[in-house]
Amino acid sequence: SMTDIADAGSQLMKENKNKKREKRLEEEKKRREMQKSKYLDDPLMNKKIEEELKKEEIEEMEKNAIIEWKKEARVESYGIKSKLSMQEQRESLPVYKSRNELLEAVRNNDFIVIVGETGSGKTTQITQYLAEDGYINSGIIACTQPRRVAAISVAKRVAEEVNCKVGDEVGYTIRFEDCTGPQTKIKYMTDGMLEREALTDPLMSRYSVIMLDEAHERTIATDILFALLRDIVIKRKGTLKLIVTSATLDSTKFSRYFNNCPVFHIQGRTFPVKIYYTKTPELDYIEATIDTIIDVHTNNPKGDILVFLTGREEIETCCEAIVQKMSVLYQSDPSLSELIVLPIYSAMPSEMQSRIFEPTPKGKRKVVIATNIAETSITIDGIYYVVDPGFVKVNAYDPKRGMDTLVVKPISRAQADQRSGRAGRTGPGICYRLYTKNAYLKEMPANTTPEILRQNLSHTILMLKAMGINDVLEFGFMDRPKEESLVKALEELYILEALDEDGKLTETGRCMAYFAVEPMLSKTLIKSFEFGCSYEVIEVIAMLTVPDVFYRPREKRDLADKMKQRFDDFNGDHLTLLNVYRKWEASGYSKDWCTDNFIQEKSMRKARDVKNQLIRLMEIVDKKEKGIQLSLVSCKNRLEQVRKAFVSGFFKNCAKRSSNHGHHDEEGVFRTLADNLAVYIHPSSSLFKIPGVDYVIYHTLVLTNKEYMHCTTKIDPSWLIQYASKVFRKTERGELSIAKKREKIQPLYDKFDQTGRWRLSRGRR
Ligand code: CDP
Ligand code: MG
Repeated sequence: SMTDIADAGSQLMKENKNKKREKRLEEEKKRREMQKSKYLDDPLMNKKIEEELKKEEIEEMEKNAIIEWKKEARVESYGIKSKLSMQEQRESLPVYKSRNELLEAVRNNDFIVIVGETGSGKTTQITQYLAEDGYINSGIIACTQPRRVAAISVAKRVAEEVNCKVGDEVGYTIRFEDCTGPQTKIKYMTDGMLEREALTDPLMSRYSVIMLDEAHERTIATDILFALLRDIVIKRKGTLKLIVTSATLDSTKFSRYFNNCPVFHIQGRTFPVKIYYTKTPELDYIEATIDTIIDVHTNNPKGDILVFLTGREEIETCCEAIVQKMSVLYQSDPSLSELIVLPIYSAMPSEMQSRIFEPTPKGKRKVVIATNIAETSITIDGIYYVVDPGFVKVNAYDPKRGMDTLVVKPISRAQADQRSGRAGRTGPGICYRLYTKNAYLKEMPANTTPEILRQNLSHTILMLKAMGINDVLEFGFMDRPKEESLVKALEELYILEALDEDGKLTETGRCMAYFAVEPMLSKTLIKSFEFGCSYEVIEVIAMLTVPDVFYRPREKRDLADKMKQRFDDFNGDHLTLLNVYRKWEASGYSKDWCTDNFIQEKSMRKARDVKNQLIRLMEIVDKKEKGIQLSLVSCKNRLEQVRKAFVSGFFKNCAKRSSNHGHHDEEGVFRTLADNLAVYIHPSSSLFKIPGVDYVIYHTLVLTNKEYMHCTTKIDPSWLIQYASKVFRKTERGELSIAKKREKIQPLYDKFDQTGRWRLSRGRR
């Protein structure tokens, strides 16, 4: 072969290479052995799990399992799915046995809670049963999902089962993407989209059944829908059914909330899962994950692996490392079966996502490396091994600093059990928990905190106000948020002029609620007309709402960064984004242009969709809201207007360069005006190391080793007084001298008015 010819030229080099390779393999082997001895078989836990099943059942299962292992029939079973007809597949799901009973329960009750293991067929089947039972004659059947990816993937699957195109009888709606048509009867949608529909259709009159799926996830939107629908169903007097489905057994709480409605259990068939814990805590869970995957693949019988990591970057790193390690192992042992590595996270192209559902070819093994999405909302068949490092990325609100941050946190015990359960769907499985048993029992919380208790509520409150729900403190939350965070959200909306002094929705606020973006963005958008740059602002907002447009492949990072610099606008990142969008447009939306410039084409196309949606919404607002003029205007090259418009929405995210009289450790430090928090310009920003940048606004803060501002733009401080007069004013001369004496007050501005009512902060340390 070519390699032989090349290698023959230099025998010496080859020997060297071989030695190196052997050494590497040796190390690899050692590491694997160490890894193995690290696991502790946990007889107690396993016993507990086994006790839950009847003895004969286990014997039966084990007998079958042993036969299967021996014959390696399990690999064949992967093919079964495609061999069965669609109808046979549907009938093989656990929910099928309860079909008639379930339909009867729905007929007799307006509220019903359904509990069933992940994969039992709740999401894909129940909607179809309801359709078959005639509910489509009086309206649409809606099924909500907390995650966009899940909504799309399930809609595709059901369309396939119904034998129609997605968007015909079966469709989906997610933010900025509506794939439904006039004949759509089964509609999968994100819970956020259904929540939005309550704005225009307060009785949800288009629907005959609403299924709030994955209720155990307790997203804010689902929680709000709980309360709204509890009233709506009663008002609709039997013409709307509400089904709440959950994968966990915590159903009594749901039942109690919905007037003690019946709880329907789907009898699922699950197999025992053996659980292994590590003996000592893992210092680097990514590395431990990689080792465990390789270990399972090289030492364990066949069966696919499911791995839980926290986000895209981690998943990609892990995939690369596994592919690399495997290529080393193949060289030493060509008989080793192939390991197919498949990532899944929400920002991934959907063509790639569907690959994870394809049956694994005979003689191979696949490892699916997923975010939390595979915990309950997506079921992958053929999983026998689960690797669970025990972490999840959640959006958490820090009320002290008044902002949302993405943080990696330990999962709850309920989540850990959900994850391990994924290994027991097709046969007895194994779960490797990369944490100690002690951590599981003592450090993990029993249940996940509902999102509503830990996130910024300003967007939610704005929606409630726009629905005419004025007294949000008295709203029927299942779990009431802390008053502190409700008040904080009200304050935020007040300073954005979305609410008046009495907390009533203003005209601006009503217009803001039309746009499915966070309040600071919608405020910017509403104001952009006054600044004569609504066209540009829409493009920037579109770019801000899509996944990062700059493509930085690991091996070409420097080149990619150089290419990015060519788009840099030295007045800030918002304008850099605008620049990218304009140049892409000028290229005729060219794909090659994206490739050449290290720009993610998928994100750009998405941005164009978002832009068109926002334009459409703007036209609606312009027509409906007489008091507000809002139409498309371009500022051409007067880009300062764009920065001013962003100040009118993002003044709260303002930071000033810290000038501690030449103290070097303060160099490059900015301090937020609202909280005096030390923040930094990110190295990827077009303002990084640019002189003369004293005041900036930023889109978000990202906490890594430092608190970095993400998407930062230079502003003139006088704009703050002009465009955010509720919050900023010039300090009186007397105050200034006091400030100077103490040197603790921001010299030019205060952040509160005299009444103290909407006092944002003290301004003093
Ligand atoms: O909702 P639940 O977890 O109870 O189950 P489901 O999502 O309705 O899944 C039922 C079956 O459909 C599983 O065996 C999945 O593997 C299959 N499915 C699929 O093949 N492709 C999808 N996109 C979704 C589900
Ligand atoms: Mg489901």
